[in-house]
Amino acid sequence: MNILAIESSCDDTAAAVVKDGREILSKAVASQVTEHIVYGGVVPEIASRRHTESICAVVGKALNDAGLSLNEIDGIGVTYAPGLIGALLVGVSYVKGLSYASGIPLIPVHHLRSHIAANYLTYPELEPEFLCLVVSGGHSHIIEVQSYTKFHVIGRTRDDAAGEALDKAARTMGLPYPGGLNLDREAADGNPHMYTFPRPRVDGSEYDFSFSGLKTSVINVIHNASQKGEQINVPDLGASFMDAVAGCLVKNTEKAALDFGYRKIALAGGVSANSVLRRKMEEVCKKHRWELYMPELSLCGDNGAMVASQAYYELLAGHTASLELNACATMSIEEDNR
Ligand code: KG4
Ligand code: ZN
Repeated sequence: MNILAIESSCDDTAAAVVKDGREILSKAVASQVTEHIVYGGVVPEIASRRHTESICAVVGKALNDAGLSLNEIDGIGVTYAPGLIGALLVGVSYVKGLSYASGIPLIPVHHLRSHIAANYLTYPELEPEFLCLVVSGGHSHIIEVQSYTKFHVIGRTRDDAAGEALDKAARTMGLPYPGGLNLDREAADGNPHMYTFPRPRVDGSEYDFSFSGLKTSVINVIHNASQKGEQINVPDLGASFMDAVAGCLVKNTEKAALDFGYRKIALAGGVSANSVLRRKMEEVCKKHRWELYMPELSLCGDNGAMVASQAYYELLAGHTASLELNACATMSIEEDNR
């Protein structure tokens, strides 16, 4: 079964064709990074406009590169929640038109579900159940993947997402957008023991995260240094901060896996590309002899292929939508359980 899918929840207009949920036939993207870089972050209004301009060409390229015409497509997937509402609406409206004109089923896909599905593309043998740490610019969740379409959230952030904290820290250190990625590169040779950061715990919920205090601590270090006219060492500060963030993520995931009895662990989301997080997770999984699944780097961030993969499983479960489908800025991954 060939699925064409579109992702426009944030700043990339992406489309892809995936066969049977596992084999990428094509992957096209129009990146907006150079446009948002001058603002130090994504400007939602600009993102929506650029999606509108790029979407036809990106979908055309995905079909062309796959060597398929529309009548060889069995389902059209689209990210419909959560994300920037204007950006999501571009993808949803486009796909509604395409589905109406072609008669091909329309498949709404939750963004975090698609991030998890990036693992199905990287590991053809991987099947639920497993435990997944989903970490992106807007979310930090520990999720039980009970089936391809049934999820249960064990832990979540109480304030900032891990990616948000990394982006803010990077920006305060003077690094360009996209912050998390540049911080990872800049801190590659840094000493993670040069600066000490707290490892916040959330009272009453051992699986939840809190990153806003950590974010404030790193900003304070930078401001204090600048008030005293001292230079900060960006690689060392970045390495120490990433060590603290990744440490919290891995610690809670390890506890959840032990308490809920999971021996198959996966990572997902843009932050799953982080070198420190990947290394720490490898160490923990090796210690317990757990199987670890991490999306290949090109599939960690937002892309169309992961949406197509998840759309395939949603279609198998009969989760199609009518032309009344709307985009939603916020939605729990569980709300979509059917
Ligand atoms: O999943 P994603 O592409 O978009 C959202 O759904 O939010 O995640 C974007 C986040 C950003 O915060 C970005 O800085 C972060 O992922 N990110 C990284 C790395 N690559 C992307 N954070 C740390 N290390 C990286 N290598
Ligand atoms: Zn994402």
